[in-house]
Amino acid sequence: MCKFRNIKTGESTAAMKRFAVIGNPVAHSLSPRLHKYVFKKLGIDANYSAIQCTEKQFPEIIDRLRSGQLNGINVTLPLKQSVIPYLDVFDKHVKAIGAVNCIAVKNRKLFGHNTDWIGFQKALENAKIQVDGATCIIVGAGGAARSVGYALGMNNVKKFIIINRTTKRAEDLKQLILSIFPDVKIDISKWCELDLEVLYQALIVNCTSVGMVPNVNDCPVPEKYLLPSQTIIDIIYSPFRTKLYRVGQSIGTKTLSGLPMLIHQALASFDIWFNEPISEKVQMDELQDFLKQYC
Ligand code: ATR
Repeated sequence: MCKFRNIKTGESTAAMKRFAVIGNPVAHSLSPRLHKYVFKKLGIDANYSAIQCTEKQFPEIIDRLRSGQLNGINVTLPLKQSVIPYLDVFDKHVKAIGAVNCIAVKNRKLFGHNTDWIGFQKALENAKIQVDGATCIIVGAGGAARSVGYALGMNNVKKFIIINRTTKRAEDLKQLILSIFPDVKIDISKWCELDLEVLYQALIVNCTSVGMVPNVNDCPVPEKYLLPSQTIIDIIYSPFRTKLYRVGQSIGTKTLSGLPMLIHQALASFDIWFNEPISEKVQMDELQDFLKQYC
């Protein structure tokens, strides 16, 4: 049960809880703003900071978690995989995806979770994007693509088409998805190889870093393959409106930015750390409007 601050007096009802995001680089992270906003809004007596951390420095963070100096952390690039051996327990989703972005502590034991896939799933739900039986084009084959592929597989996508600059990584992603969802169909392809029927109805998810600040005019999908009948999700949230998002909107495609996914993965971390549905007490639109100014 989380302890709430007495909002009128500002007095804390318990020792302040401390959370952080760790990664390298981490200064650009929106997570501190997001978490602090929610803490303030709900009167939760807690703080959230960004800690620059290399793989070598991670054991220090472990000590701080076990000793109670930190009550939980989010993990970002490039540590999402390398932290796993340090954990005492991790759930089946972490095992499947092979990455951790949220660590909780209970009785000095470290529990690893992956809330990236939950964030993507919730963003789909909120935007009323149906993926059951759909064909999905995943652009990219890195860590983000693994969480997205997992979420889509969990929601019964029928066929994946993976498009990635490096074929070997696309092959690795294909094998990973097949090891979890053996009945799905997966092709590795190039844009020019796709027929119109596939393109026409596709859900396209950009999981590459192409279009991210400062390269805001780069587009991960050649524009001639974008059609009004598609659904486009760009998991990039900085800028809020990427080139892919802007082109999609201009031709009338249903488009979704990466910001809802970011917010939902953060709220899922709250629920884990406080062991109660904090996420239900927060207005998504309000949080999104607040964060947009920093994207
Ligand atoms: P993350 O964990 O955020 O997914 P990552 O594992 O480094 O980060 O993966 C980044 C993805 O963006 C990869 O699919 C990468 O393609 P490669 O596998 O060929 O490296 C893709 N990517 C990054 N820069 C790119 C670029 N300029 N053009 C095309 N793809 C790019």
